[in-house]
Amino acid sequence: MDFQPRTIIEPFRIKSVEPIAATTPEQRRAALEAASYNLFLLRAEDVLIDLLTDSGTGAMSAQQWAGMLQGDESYAGARSFYRLEQAVREITGFKHVIPTHQGRAAERILFGTVCRAGDVVPNNTHFDTTRANVEARGAEARDLMSPEARQPGLIRPFKGNIDLEGLRATIAEAGRERIPLCMITVTNNSGGGQPVSMANVRAASEICRGAGIPLFVDACRFAENAWFIKQREPGYAGKTPLEIAQELFSYADGCTMSAKKDGLANIGGFLALNDDAWAQQCKNLLILTEGFPTYGGLAGYDMEAIAIGLREALHEDYLRYRIRSIEYLGEKLTADGIPIVLPTGGHAVYVDAAALLPHIPPGQYPAQALCVALYLAAGIRAVEIGSVMFGRPRPDGGEEPAALELVRLTFPRRVYTQSHVDYIAEALIYIKHNLDQIRGLRIAWQPPTLRHFTARFELV
Ligand code: F0G
Repeated sequence: MDFQPRTIIEPFRIKSVEPIAATTPEQRRAALEAASYNLFLLRAEDVLIDLLTDSGTGAMSAQQWAGMLQGDESYAGARSFYRLEQAVREITGFKHVIPTHQGRAAERILFGTVCRAGDVVPNNTHFDTTRANVEARGAEARDLMSPEARQPGLIRPFKGNIDLEGLRATIAEAGRERIPLCMITVTNNSGGGQPVSMANVRAASEICRGAGIPLFVDACRFAENAWFIKQREPGYAGKTPLEIAQELFSYADGCTMSAKKDGLANIGGFLALNDDAWAQQCKNLLILTEGFPTYGGLAGYDMEAIAIGLREALHEDYLRYRIRSIEYLGEKLTADGIPIVLPTGGHAVYVDAAALLPHIPPGQYPAQALCVALYLAAGIRAVEIGSVMFGRPRPDGGEEPAALELVRLTFPRRVYTQSHVDYIAEALIYIKHNLDQIRGLRIAWQPPTLRHFTARFELV
């Protein structure tokens, strides 16, 4: 007997469940109106399947829950901190490990320490909070997406890569003095959850080291990125995800991390780096706003959960199942002619709303309109990654649209099963056959920054 299954199963069984309940279309319409068509303003209880984010929404393992009971809640020098430090050092090799309450706190501490007004920070693509934290310093957050990434339907293995020519040009133009560090985001979240190749990180590292510029990894989805390198990059098939992650971090001088992603935790993050002077300054700032450097705003039990989660996220059977479930949804949508970013990324399927809804111009936020339709039809909450999130005001009072109008169907880790995924596909296919019912939106009110979280919309 040599059973070679083709079915990739969830590599876990479920021991604790949380009910989800369907609402009626009337209830959803009322909830949408109350939320001014901004899905961030819905009550989660009114959502059937929540694909808003993969951040902090995962299910923890029995091991992690057991670890939480061992949390050491000492203010200073807690055992749980040293466990976290050990896990982070083993994976990243960085000397200083600074816990933070989530990724954006690590960003604020880092940029608040090293970034000045007039500086330029290059990145393959800044995530929204990363961009906002750079800009809050009066610096420029410059996206250097690889040209391949601008073509959603183009199949290439590493569409998350940083544009190396653009990086050289940025260094030549801005000069070393104005670039406190360069970042590379793995996987490239705002660019479709696409991976970055080892060769690209190595080349970016050589360019940065040649110019004396530190390279930092935005490491939120480092384990998923390692899996793609193993699958797609020559020379890595025989290496473990841990070995791949270790090599990737070896090309960098530090990282910011949201442990709510590949830390498999519900809260937490860290900043890790080699430079002693920067680490000292970061710790000083941390004490001011987050907490003492051995807890950084986290409970001891959070640090236990992260230390265990970081290692579980690198398990091969977990990564195989995770990446496959996303690819499975991608295949179903593609088979029905729904345009998505190809190949499917690590944590989400990104629907190309501009291609799906050509009758809605960018100024009427087609990706937001599709999110609204998906909730109304099926109770599914997705997130807009388009001109609501990244549109820019123009001097003439108009608005510069984002490069892409995407709807991200983001998969929480270890939460939904294959029949949930089948339901999601069915809902999108239904919408595709009823596109004429979808209307554009206009913004009725918006805050000065990060408007997508709280803006209020009206139907056009
Ligand atoms: N960097 C990237 C690439 C991210 O995706 C996120 C969060 C952060 C930094 C900030 O981390 O939320 O812990 O402060 N992304 C979530 C998302 C929110 O939905 O993509 P955080």
